[in-house]
Amino acid sequence: MTTYGATPAHVAIIMDGNGRWAKARGLPRLAGHRAGVEALRRTVRAAPGLGIAYLTVYAFSSENWSRPQSEVSDLMGLLKIFIRRDLAELHQNGVKVVVIGDRATLQPEIRSLLEEAELLTAGNGALTLAIAFNYGGRDEIARAARKLALSVARGEIDPEDITPAAFSSALDTAGIPDPELVIRTSGELRLSNFLLWQAAYSELAFLPCYWPDFSADHLAEAVREFGRRERRFGGLAPQDVAL
Ligand code: FPP
Repeated sequence: MTTYGATPAHVAIIMDGNGRWAKARGLPRLAGHRAGVEALRRTVRAAPGLGIAYLTVYAFSSENWSRPQSEVSDLMGLLKIFIRRDLAELHQNGVKVVVIGDRATLQPEIRSLLEEAELLTAGNGALTLAIAFNYGGRDEIARAARKLALSVARGEIDPEDITPAAFSSALDTAGIPDPELVIRTSGELRLSNFLLWQAAYSELAFLPCYWPDFSADHLAEAVREFGRRERRFGGLAPQDVAL
């Protein structure tokens, strides 16, 4: 299968560069993360108008715990503020909030805020916003494997039932289509443990700007650039088939 010119239904973003944005201005890293939340708000508002139905953002990775305790607690605080301040607007705009990642080790207060956001917005359909929090691709894959192994051990499924589709359904992103486009800001050229399974055939866009500078125009340009990509999924382009 080859496709061109379509709008990506699912865009996933590695919001990178908050710290460097702050440093360039002589500001504390927290100022960069705060400006990052503003950029996230802009992006969520712009996405539906560009035909995006699913937006996944990498807000806190399972490796981010290794940052200084003060920064970890700043990021936890920003998540709480984001949910508390923005939930009403998100709901009003028809945004369905889902959270991917391992919740087991999060503070109970954060867990219940996340559950409240998911519950309130579960029926919305304008945009699904998947927040990757305490998320790591390898951890997600290992947890899915454990779930499936448990089902085999209980006799609920056979090992032969573990197909790619069954595996996808055991991931945190069950029910969400794979991202067609993964964007990373700040000029770094790697996936950093983000959506490792789901991004198998994603188009990748690496933007030089720091995340706090990301705008609706950047998003629109990335979507336009996606439309110019030839996607072959391991097959051949139509003009090469007869050769
Ligand atoms: C990467 O920048 C960004 C993060 C680790 C966190 C992303 C968080 C936000 C955009 C704000 C929080 C949003 C919510 C909803 C909690 P970095 O700190 O690694 O930047 P650097 O590489 O320049 O140091």
